[in-house]
Amino acid sequence: MRVRSLRLLLVLLIGVCQAAAQAASPATAADIERRIDALLQQMTLEEKIGQLSQYTSATPQTLELVRQGRAGSLFNVTGADNTNAAQRIALEQSRLKIPLLFGYDVIHGYRTIFPVPIATASSFDPALIEEVERVAAREASAGGVKWTFAPMVDIARDPRWGRMVEGAGEDPYLGSVVAAARVRGFQGQNVADPESLAACAKHFAAYGAAEGGRDYNTVDTSQQLLREVYLPPFHAAVEAGVATVMAGFEDMNGIPATANQRLLRGILRREWQFDGVVVSDYDAIHELIAHGVAANDGEAAWQALTAGVDMDMADGAYQSLLQLDPSKLPTERIDQAVRRVLRLKFRAGLFENPYTDPARERNAELTLENLKVARRAAQESVILLKNQKGLLPLSKSVKTIAVIGPLADDPADQLGSWAGNGRAEDVVTPLAGIKAKLPKAQVIYAKGVDVPSFEREGPGQAGAAPAPLSATGVAGVATSAGPEGIEKAVRAARQADVTIIFLGELASMTGEASSRATLDLPGRQQELLRAVVATGKPAVLVLESGRPMDIRWANDHVMAIIQAWYPGVQAGNALADVLFGDVSPSARLPISWPRSVGQIPVYYNHRATGRPTSSDRWHTAYIDESSEPLFPFGYGLTYTTFRYSNLKVLMETVAPTGTLCVEAELQNVGQRAGTEVAQLYVHDRVAPTSRPVRELKGFKRITLQPGERRTVEFTVQARDLGSNDADLRWVVPPGTYDVWIAANAAEGVHATFQIGTR
Ligand code: NOJ
Repeated sequence: MRVRSLRLLLVLLIGVCQAAAQAASPATAADIERRIDALLQQMTLEEKIGQLSQYTSATPQTLELVRQGRAGSLFNVTGADNTNAAQRIALEQSRLKIPLLFGYDVIHGYRTIFPVPIATASSFDPALIEEVERVAAREASAGGVKWTFAPMVDIARDPRWGRMVEGAGEDPYLGSVVAAARVRGFQGQNVADPESLAACAKHFAAYGAAEGGRDYNTVDTSQQLLREVYLPPFHAAVEAGVATVMAGFEDMNGIPATANQRLLRGILRREWQFDGVVVSDYDAIHELIAHGVAANDGEAAWQALTAGVDMDMADGAYQSLLQLDPSKLPTERIDQAVRRVLRLKFRAGLFENPYTDPARERNAELTLENLKVARRAAQESVILLKNQKGLLPLSKSVKTIAVIGPLADDPADQLGSWAGNGRAEDVVTPLAGIKAKLPKAQVIYAKGVDVPSFEREGPGQAGAAPAPLSATGVAGVATSAGPEGIEKAVRAARQADVTIIFLGELASMTGEASSRATLDLPGRQQELLRAVVATGKPAVLVLESGRPMDIRWANDHVMAIIQAWYPGVQAGNALADVLFGDVSPSARLPISWPRSVGQIPVYYNHRATGRPTSSDRWHTAYIDESSEPLFPFGYGLTYTTFRYSNLKVLMETVAPTGTLCVEAELQNVGQRAGTEVAQLYVHDRVAPTSRPVRELKGFKRITLQPGERRTVEFTVQARDLGSNDADLRWVVPPGTYDVWIAANAAEGVHATFQIGTR
């Protein structure tokens, strides 16, 4: 007996020594599994549950848990000094010396804040998006962060939902391309690279389908919609190798995502073979009680764990597993979850490189190169919605400009909804950017009105966990427009040759827990706009918001309109580049832009219905409003004009296993160089289930000089043109298909092709 225990001790010691010896070099997959086995053998149940528990911030309490081996990950701890100090506790004072994994919401940049995700998605430029996330990863990792809770890949068809700003819009194809690009950007070639972050595709799944657009609300979706609209971006992220997935807050068809075996085990693990870590959202395991599917934390933890949630974020609910009858504990499942967390730590290189180098951090943030990427990203993210009589670009020899509006010189709100470690003082505001662009012009600034915030009154939820970190709370400029703000703005406009009016939403009105019941410009902004436009001076409206706004009046009365979203630290420079023609706008809408809130949801890839929209009353339509959006998905103007012609399908009949090849001529028929986003749409005329009237299947950004023409070619696997039948079998129905190459979802050159039976 004694000999056996001695032998066991020896084996364990060898295991630990081997682990130490290997610490210098990156481990192979087999090494990793062996080292995990060795650790698992030594771990107590408390330590195992500890690895599955993630807490927010480095407080005396959370650091004590680290010391006791009862916390595997901290989030919202950033900066080399802070992360290294906490890491030192894990490595020097905890029994097993397992490194901590530091998570953070690096949503659109870490210190160099980029345009919000819906803005960079509007660029339709995956290479740019990848570069943006690479920079974000480099900065964040220098501060010791190794895991970002991004990308958010939720499809959003409802702009009332504040989190539309965090995603890539309404389309599953664009959403998938963007999701994969962001994962590649964050993770680089290898998560172990000291400059890479583990990414997290969230919020699995269909969180964006919240009823009424109310955040956290219940979701009811058919399996078809789930598979064809909401899941594809997650699948694309998994295919791109995303290290982690976050379960959503919502219930889907009555089953909270956090306890949803079909989603987490069935689809994610079995169908997609995802072998990374699933983390819950903030407090979401505990919230299974409020959902009404668990009676207490013990039950909630058991349900989440057995459904497939590996790590528990923030609420400590997994600790209650320790109170359960040990014979009822799913011990194999606990070991599996611990294995996944440890594997992530090994793959992230944390056993080899647990600390970050403060010298690297000093040189990583807000570098000139990073700012250049931020400026380019902002230039490529702004969408020109209207440009009557070619008002834009404005002449640089203009003498007097009125810069008006509450967002014109508001640095904090340029940063957007989730600004990481961004700071207001890093921001070039639109006013500053315009002044820098035109040092000789007279620039008259008038704020016009203040934007009242929609802060809800009341004490907040008693006993609630600390609010999830949604925005930075970066302090803004508090200068008030004063009671005569509108008159001052009108006076400024009267003195000027042209007015540029910056209106929209405060960043805090978008993002998490920021759903709205209207799309109106908050406060008295509409009144300001009317008053300034009434001066008769040529006016440009620049909208900054995280969602489309109701701009019917502006569209009828303002000469030029730009949707700028929240452009980030280089907002002013990039906007001035676009306004004064150094850069031609090239972004396109990743959503359909509603006329009014009553049209919601309005999205381009809707099904046909038995009575498709027409002017005849007895068809699907409103009697008091058009059924069409104000601007369609994919729409956006440039400073030139493009013409499509001569669509050719290279083989009129495509085998179901074959490839569709289609091309069209594109010509720049305007006077300036410009970038077009050519879009490929397909529609299957007869299928087992009614198909969307159009579905995006490809896009390309093409820059052409005046007069230049180019053949735009697309190839698509016929398999990717299929759909689910009623029993959720993927079919590629034979028959006639429509195809368009188009400037947006409502236009295009058109042809048909056949898919054959074999
Ligand atoms: C709640 C949000 O839903 C999620 O997106 C975020 O990553 C976590 N809080 C952590 O901050």
